Amino acid sequence: MTILVTGGAGFIGSNFVIEWLLKNKESVINLDKLTYAGNISNLDGLKNSPNHIFVHGDIGDSKLTNRLLNEYQPRCIINFAAESHVDRSIHGPEEFIQTNIVSTFHLLESARKYWDNLKSKKKTIFVFFMFPQMRCMDHLNIKLRLSQKSIVISQIVHIQRAKRHLII
Ligand SMILES: NC(=O)c1ccc[n+]([C@@H]2O[C@H](COP(=O)([O-])OP(=O)(O)OC[C@H]3O[C@@H](n4cnc5c(N)ncnc54)[C@H](O)[C@@H]3O)[C@@H](O)[C@H]2O)c1
Repeated sequence: MTILVTGGAGFIGSNFVIEWLLKNKESVINLDKLTYAGNISNLDGLKNSPNHIFVHGDIGDSKLTNRLLNEYQPRCIINFAAESHVDRSIHGPEEFIQTNIVSTFHLLESARKYWDNLKSKKKTIFVFFMFPQMRCMDHLNIKLRLSQKSIVISQIVHIQRAKRHLII
């Protein structure tokens, strides 16, 4: 099985991917645009990991995301890709609108189309997580606590069930 992580070269995403691969056998497709906030060297430790597939690209590029979804058939999408530095939005809001609204919408649309074509069992377990807010991230003991606002396409997944899926 495979999961698709977006923004996995950023602060939270890279820690998540490293921790995930330490503790899981499932491979990670890591899609990141490598903006000023993304740092590929965050992932240096994964250079020899056959389970880490880094793809340099934009979540708003539907052709790319459709291809990745169809090729790798992930059971889950975890979206960390964002313009996250709020102070920058004051001087340059356009990139925020583009990534956090327009491109995120395109990613959601790709996911919806992919989910539409899944067989019923895969449809039931497929989830799409986003992190509009996070309650906390334990220091050096990374536990991603899903916010109540996490977007779940396939169904409303109870927060406890979501935690079982994701806490590593
Ligand atoms: N860091 C925190 O303390 C914190 C707290 C609350 C919520 N969050 C949220 O969690 C998410 C991740 O936060 P972070 O601190 O890791 O952010 P970050 O800025 O460190 O990383 C964002 C990553 O997304 C990538 N990216 C940006 N636009 C992209 C695009 N269009 N396509 C593909 N990749 C793109 C960047 O290259 C970067 O690697 C954000 O939604 C953020 O708002 C973070």
